[in-house]
Amino acid sequence: MAADDLDLLVLGSGVAGLSAAVRAAETHKMRVGVLTKGELPQATTRWAQGGVAAVLHGDEDSTDLHLADTLSAGAGLCDAEAVRVLVDEGPHRVNELIALGAMFDRDARGELELAREGGHTLARIVHAGGSATGAEVERALVAAVQRTMAAVYEHAFALELIVEAGRCRGITARFPDGTTREVRATNVLVTTGGAGQLYAVTTNPLEATGDGIAMALRAGVAVADIEFVQFHPTALSIDSMPRPLLTEALRGHGALLRDTRGERFVDELLPRDVVSRAETRRMLELGTDHVFLDATGLEQFDQRFPNIAAQLQGVGLDPATDWLPVAPAAHYTCGGIVTDLQGASSLPGLWAAGEVSCSGVHGANRLASNSLLEGMVFGPRAVEAIEAGVSGPEPTGAMRTVMGMDPDRPDMVPAGVIGGRFVRLDPISPAPETLPEDPSKIRTVLQRALTEHAGVLRDATSLASAAAAVGSALTAPRSDSVAGHELHNLVTVARAAVDAATRREESRGAHTREDFPATSADLALRFVYV
Ligand code: SIN
Repeated sequence: MAADDLDLLVLGSGVAGLSAAVRAAETHKMRVGVLTKGELPQATTRWAQGGVAAVLHGDEDSTDLHLADTLSAGAGLCDAEAVRVLVDEGPHRVNELIALGAMFDRDARGELELAREGGHTLARIVHAGGSATGAEVERALVAAVQRTMAAVYEHAFALELIVEAGRCRGITARFPDGTTREVRATNVLVTTGGAGQLYAVTTNPLEATGDGIAMALRAGVAVADIEFVQFHPTALSIDSMPRPLLTEALRGHGALLRDTRGERFVDELLPRDVVSRAETRRMLELGTDHVFLDATGLEQFDQRFPNIAAQLQGVGLDPATDWLPVAPAAHYTCGGIVTDLQGASSLPGLWAAGEVSCSGVHGANRLASNSLLEGMVFGPRAVEAIEAGVSGPEPTGAMRTVMGMDPDRPDMVPAGVIGGRFVRLDPISPAPETLPEDPSKIRTVLQRALTEHAGVLRDATSLASAAAAVGSALTAPRSDSVAGHELHNLVTVARAAVDAATRREESRGAHTREDFPATSADLALRFVYV
């Protein structure tokens, strides 16, 4: 198949992208390409531990409760219609995944086992391999894509969107043979994940460099909620990149958080923004760089969480006897490319789903285990819209902030719509014509600066330091290598994230300003970068 024949080009190979590719290629017989900068199974999805939140059974649970928990975690910035779609369609998507071959953990009666995580009022998380859910989801989807006729482009790095006559027509990409070529498609679905690599302390793999969000920003496609970086409270505090995650499900099963004096200091089952904040404050008070997760009371740790047990053994820790040192780590990019309920972005022909997107389901803070769910719900929705001939965005989901608003009259917000402030950053000037510096050095400096100055707790002074570090990285010589392009993407996203964090003079969800500790009713809106 010629590269320019595609009906749908999927960028990225995580749960959102592969769910979409399978549906498009198998159900609708579209000509599909999947382009990834690594290998097909090498997406952030495979790192997900806890599971998929979906109301599959349980007499007490309901999708209304799942909706209420999601809205509560999102701190006033979720789009309720988008969350309704997520919780209502989620159970069906999980069953589809099971039909495709995904093996979730079951109890002795053959019922799906349900775990509880922070922010959920009930146990409703289905999981696989104990806490290796992402790996199982990825395995099943990779196998399903390989059974289709979809063309797979591995080790191909997407550089820029091709925009012609106001419509996305494909991308330019760097291929493993060193050539840069166009891949043309009638529709491009971006599912490239988040930007955890903005931070020196993160649970995200090295590939999570915000590539899709950066391409969108450069093309003037609306991006919002980008200041809401979620920090996971229990990343193992060892010197590694990325930091190993100790799933929330451990706390769901009864593991406790203790400070370095052994005292408990927070309800472990609160949403993760609250727990991460409490940890950070306790660490500052006691002058330590970690607290402890005490899982010594958990029975059958090795059987329930075999992958975590193996990781701990590798660093000489025994969860039966040792308290495990943990600290918050950047984990999830809550904002991204603004979409409607079908995944359409503000640029016709360009769609987004999963962590790269801002559909309105997460608001200011994602509820635990809603991320795999979002990918499996919204990736296929985009395909259904394409199949139905939808050609551009509609004012639904987070897109209502963009389409329902008059940018010149931001205070005139239609009823029921989350308002927006529209920001146009100056175009990034071309890189200076000098010999490239080692991109990894600049990347490390940027990561350290954001961790120190734009982390769990921020204020105007710290954010000014973060902005200065971003400014230096922006003007540094740029290398025309994949590492150089990844760095440029990180800096592009960092500039918007720090700018939005500076403008958001309040504390809300994952964004905590020490100088503005209260939530402001006036800022129940999105900062939209266009
Ligand atoms: C976890 O297992 O704690 C992570 C799950 C998630 O990110 O939602």
